Amino acid sequence: MIVLGIETSCDENSVAVVKDGRQILSSVVFSQVDLHKIYGGVVPEVAARSHIEVMIPTIDEALIQAFSQESRSGNLESGIRKLATGNRRRETSFPQLPTPNSQIPNVDPWSNIDAIAVSRGPGLGGSLMIGVLTARTLALIKDKPLYGVDHVHSHVYANFVDWSKLDKSHGSRWSVPKFPLLALIVSGGHTQLVWFKNHFDYQLLGQTQDDAAGEAFDKVAKIVGLPYPGGPSIQAAAINGNPAFFKLPKAKMQNPYDFSFSGLKTAVLRAVQQLVGVDYDFPSTKLAKKLSGAQVNDIAASFQHTAVEILVDKTLKAYQEFKPRTVVIAGGVAANSELRQQLDERIPAGISYAPINLCLDNAVMTASLGFYASQFRQPDDLLKLEIDPSLAM
Ligand code: KG4
Ligand code: ZN
Repeated sequence: MIVLGIETSCDENSVAVVKDGRQILSSVVFSQVDLHKIYGGVVPEVAARSHIEVMIPTIDEALIQAFSQESRSGNLESGIRKLATGNRRRETSFPQLPTPNSQIPNVDPWSNIDAIAVSRGPGLGGSLMIGVLTARTLALIKDKPLYGVDHVHSHVYANFVDWSKLDKSHGSRWSVPKFPLLALIVSGGHTQLVWFKNHFDYQLLGQTQDDAAGEAFDKVAKIVGLPYPGGPSIQAAAINGNPAFFKLPKAKMQNPYDFSFSGLKTAVLRAVQQLVGVDYDFPSTKLAKKLSGAQVNDIAASFQHTAVEILVDKTLKAYQEFKPRTVVIAGGVAANSELRQQLDERIPAGISYAPINLCLDNAVMTASLGFYASQFRQPDDLLKLEIDPSLAM
């Protein structure tokens, strides 16, 4: 069964074609990161407008990549390599339109598509609307079953697709995750521990009560003057920093599987104010100018170390209590190398994590979850499927 996935929940416009929930036939991601960088975060209206502009060319490109003569004759390898090295994650600049760069196939690629899957939430309303309305329209005119999926749930499915060829150095690590599985889903909008007995039989063990982990990375980066998105910038700065420079607090929660990152972010702010010798009412936007490069590195390393320890402490506790067969980490923050390293060191079971491009928002995971949805339930009503910006697992 071949599913076309559409993902537009935030600032990535992505379309992918996946066979049987497992085999990637194509994956195209147009990142808007350059559009939002100058504002220091995602601007919802700008995101929605950009989705409108690139949606159809992204679909065309994904279909061409999946079914062109070129790919059928074995060139998929090079498509996959491009995805692995990030070349597919092209930065488009507004209002420039992307142009498909593969050959137009001579058969209608839609004849190969068995179903359409789309992220219907959670996310930005305007952005979700473009993906869902496009998916509904295509399902109607191409006569395909339509499955709306939960974006946060779908992050876990980056681990179900066979990425062994995408990441040559770690490819041998890939195997299908086994149930019951424990998932730590950590992104810019969500931080949660979920216990899965099966694909659609799950229990939320705990979640953040304030900021998401990725959001904390983004906010701390802003305090110290590192560029958006904060996760990769903090990680890069932390390499040359001292993680023991600041001792930062870990919040105690009533439910041990709940998270809180807002106190940690404020503790970083206070420590920086003290370091540069200013009062609490000194504008936080001017703090970065007072920091040396070495201080920024130390702050980044100390914050990252504590934030990651919080995530790993709780994952380890859940691992010991529930004894899953697989532990999966998913979402943008799962790209973090210290998180991967601490989990590998502290959790005895093999940890499943996908290559970085599949941890960040992409439609491969949408198409994969769409496939499993098709095995478990009826398609959605294509005239009625609605977005749900606050959809919760
Ligand atoms: O899953 P994702 O692409 O989008 C959402 O659904 O939110 O996650 C984006 C988040 C951002 O907050 C970004 O700073 C964070 O993931 N992130 C990272 C890393 N790469 C991206 N956080 C820590 N370390 C990284 N290497
Ligand atoms: Zn996401």
